[in-house]
Amino acid sequence: MPRTVTVRIWRSGPSGQTGRWQTYSLPLRQERATVLDLLFTLQAEQDPTIAFRCACRVGMCGTCGMRINGREGLACRTYVHTVGESITLEPMAHLPVVRDLVVDMAPFFERYRRILPYLVPAPDQIAPVVMRQDDPRREAIDAHRECIACGLCLSACRMVGMAPDFLGPAALNRAYVLVADPRDTQRPQRLTRIAHEGGLWRCHTMLDCTAVCPKGLAPTDAIQRLRRKVVAYRLKSLLTLGRG
Ligand code: SF4
Ligand code: FES
Repeated sequence: MPRTVTVRIWRSGPSGQTGRWQTYSLPLRQERATVLDLLFTLQAEQDPTIAFRCACRVGMCGTCGMRINGREGLACRTYVHTVGESITLEPMAHLPVVRDLVVDMAPFFERYRRILPYLVPAPDQIAPVVMRQDDPRREAIDAHRECIACGLCLSACRMVGMAPDFLGPAALNRAYVLVADPRDTQRPQRLTRIAHEGGLWRCHTMLDCTAVCPKGLAPTDAIQRLRRKVVAYRLKSLLTLGRG
């Protein structure tokens, strides 16, 4: 006899529209069912109107982010046996709700745009730059490169809640990847874009982002490294100016 799972889902239209909790019960037919499996079963068997988003189902695309029992997670990588048989699902925080568990990611990517999120090589660079796997410069970047832009860190970040203009962990993590990349030519421009009150200095190192990142990244660490780079850059600029 399969166990019964209770799933409480926040149902609503666009942000600002009043929502409500709706509770469903369903049998747990597979021992290793994920939260996403439950949502598909619910949609197929009980309520076709539940809105949620997913694509890859294997933790790669970052589209199925939500709050599961009050904590940010990917529905496709969260196994029911790890969260219990009474499950609460809500949309991510700090992003406008489109419907139910679906949020509008535009403000997340707008933060990316603010940091100049792409590599700009030297114009005369024709041959690919070779960086061996054991090159320390590459190792420093690798630990921060695997972001899937799921938005979970933004949702978890208490500073984004207090200061909605804050660039947030994912954009700053991306900025670090580019600032630390020796092939990029836009370091000063990028540092200027992030070294202000709504950027680097707004982070209070509360580690919310690092605690929820499904790829095991540590945006907090990237932010600390960026701060050191900003200080080093400013010192170097002062010294250069002083040479007159
Ligand atoms: S840093 Fe981690 S939590 Fe944040 S968007 Fe990237 S993968 Fe998601
Ligand atoms: S469906 Fe792609 S990460 Fe969950």
